[in-house]
Amino acid sequence: PKALVLVGGYGTRLRPLTLTVPKPIIDFGNKPMICHQIEALKEAGCDEVVLAINYRPQVMMDFLKEWEEKLGIKITCSQEPEPMGTAGPLALARHILEDGHGTPFFVLNSDVICEYPLKEMLEVHRASGAEATILVTKVEDPSKYGVVVTTPDGRVDRFVEKPRVFVGDRINAGIYCLNPSVLDRIQPRPTSIEKEVFPAIAADGRLHTMNLEGYWMDVGQPKDYLTGLGLHLACVRNRRPQELAAGEGVRGDVIIDDTAVIGQNCLIGPNVSIGKLCVIGDGVRLSNCVLLHRVTVKNYARVSDSIVGWGSSVGSWARVDNKAVIGEDVVIRDEIYMNGAIVLPHKEIKESVLDPGTII
Ligand code: GDD
Ligand code: MG
Repeated sequence: PKALVLVGGYGTRLRPLTLTVPKPIIDFGNKPMICHQIEALKEAGCDEVVLAINYRPQVMMDFLKEWEEKLGIKITCSQEPEPMGTAGPLALARHILEDGHGTPFFVLNSDVICEYPLKEMLEVHRASGAEATILVTKVEDPSKYGVVVTTPDGRVDRFVEKPRVFVGDRINAGIYCLNPSVLDRIQPRPTSIEKEVFPAIAADGRLHTMNLEGYWMDVGQPKDYLTGLGLHLACVRNRRPQELAAGEGVRGDVIIDDTAVIGQNCLIGPNVSIGKLCVIGDGVRLSNCVLLHRVTVKNYARVSDSIVGWGSSVGSWARVDNKAVIGEDVVIRDEIYMNGAIVLPHKEIKESVLDPGTII
């Protein structure tokens, strides 16, 4: 089968990181977000994935060339002249998604993380005779998502995107298996699959669901990204524990790239990812945080509940916490306290930030 990943959007909720690279190629668990999905698609037998892009396509494609070879799957790019929403891009890529044999194809939102049960989904989809099958999961606050109300046999009765009143807590996980006939319902103009296409298929009684087992998270904003990392690492602990760091000074689930250098007497974890070529000094304390590539954390500094961008450095005895997001190439001087600060790229921080806010 073929697949399309919705990669568009400016990723504003992950700024300042998305000022440097498009959201899907930001590392999650030390691997670009979108590569988790492409790997799962390959695993499910897909031979080609189309990235629906409307923003900085060249950056994405240059980056993915390397992965195309590594993963052995064809990756093509479908660029929109203007943002086409979540349905328009399907119409635009119709010639690729339709193989002439009526084979169903996958559509994925690029910012969702889970175990991607795609093979099983394809079987469930074929067995039910549905026109479209969507993966669903339960969440505590459904108002940020698309809510589905189903009949006892798993058919979708109603699909309500971002409901203002409570209609249920089972939500669209952003992963679909669609028959090519769905393409007949979509015009090549800006349209929403959630608001226009799914309600129409549901009205015909041909929209089905499959329950997702295990964890799920939309990691499109910093707080959810950090929560999602914890869930992801717990899953890695279960499935492939050898990928996690072990040894003295490591607490709970931690992933450290082989090229990172760690000093003496550090205490690291739980829920930490340390990216390529990071340099961590002595006596450093890291918990619930992400260090992207080439981050330096000097002696006795402490980073918690925060994300530090590429090439940035945290000074000795400095402290970064409370959901701070530090952009690319930021220098935080020694002994500085960053309380929940959002820092744009290329800054030098010489004074503590005591109240959460944005530093431009
Ligand atoms: N190519 C392209 N063009 N992609 C787009 C566009 C566009 O104009 N607009 C959004 N996307 C992509 C985003 O990059 C993301 O991968 C996906 O479409 C969904 O957009 P979001 O902006 O992240 O939507 P959301 O998170 O508020 O809601 C969606 O996801 C929820 C699950 O996380 C909906 O599908 C909800 O129903 C769902 O519950
Ligand atoms: Mg999203």
